[in-house]
Amino acid sequence: VSLRLHGDTVAPAGALDFAVNVWPGEWPAGLRDALERALADARYPDEWGARAAIAARHGRDPDEVLVLNGACEAFWLLATALRPRRAACVHPGFTEPEAALRGVGCEITRVFRQPDGWWLDPGEVPTDAELVVVGNPDNPTGALGSLSALCRDGGLLVVDESFMDFVAGESESLTGDPSVVVVRSLTKLWSLAGIRAGYLLGPRALVTRLAACRQPWSVNSLACAALAWCSADLETPARVAREVAVERELLVAQLAERPFVRRVWPSAANFLLVEVIDGPAVVAALLDREIAVRPAESFPGLGPNHVRLAVRRRGDNERLLAALAELG
Ligand SMILES: Cc1ncc(COP(=O)(O)O)c(C=O)c1O
Repeated sequence: VSLRLHGDTVAPAGALDFAVNVWPGEWPAGLRDALERALADARYPDEWGARAAIAARHGRDPDEVLVLNGACEAFWLLATALRPRRAACVHPGFTEPEAALRGVGCEITRVFRQPDGWWLDPGEVPTDAELVVVGNPDNPTGALGSLSALCRDGGLLVVDESFMDFVAGESESLTGDPSVVVVRSLTKLWSLAGIRAGYLLGPRALVTRLAACRQPWSVNSLACAALAWCSADLETPARVAREVAVERELLVAQLAERPFVRRVWPSAANFLLVEVIDGPAVVAALLDREIAVRPAESFPGLGPNHVRLAVRRRGDNERLLAALAELG
């Protein structure tokens, strides 16, 4: 199955979408205003307001911030700018980093988490890997962990924290370590998938090098406005994280009651990985009921019976649970 498969292509138009992990929230009024102002602005985008706001939020210097056309751009930019010869990708994990690295001829070692708690053995990461990519919280497992054991002199650790906003307190973030690049996204918690807004935090020299490798104005005014506004709002992530935690626990408890569900892993993010007895049958039966979920077989280390479900708001989650109850 392709490393380039994503949830948006498995959800037919009109289906209730549990395949894509974008929280279905409304934009705060201030964010909508900021986007409207950006839309009415005919000038070239100016990313410095966004860089300053992101730097302030993370206690970094604006020179250590690179705004991105979505978090995904980080992986392609790192691959094409650095052209590492050997890299390690932690799996099951988001597959774009591996696709980008393979695209520049990089030799990849896949490091697999152990399904019991998706535990990761740092000793399995090859010592000569120039770049190591890992998700925290990880997609699709939902695992959150301390990754400091993966930091090494001479190698770059790329931590994809696209779902970290869902973690209250964010105690595990490694921003600030000189051998670490942290990648963040507004897509998921802020319901902004189409705007394409993300950023990375890393050593100043690396940020300069990456910025030099791409066209100017590659992050549009709407994304810059969203990045500046959202970085200054800590109330919304805290509120959404609380709601997600409640809904997630409800789903976990109800899913465990379905006889065809073998396993539900605990998750720190707005999705759940489950193992069922017959994955393709569950996916098809839900599609018949106009509900899309994400078959997880395209994630290395998982198989046809692994399915990922987004956590949505109460009414949607109840509809999913009712459909699952009809299946047995
Ligand atoms: C773990 C992870 N990182 C990054 C991305 C890409 O995020 P963005 O929309 O900001 O490019 C995704 C999207 O599915 C993801 O699951």
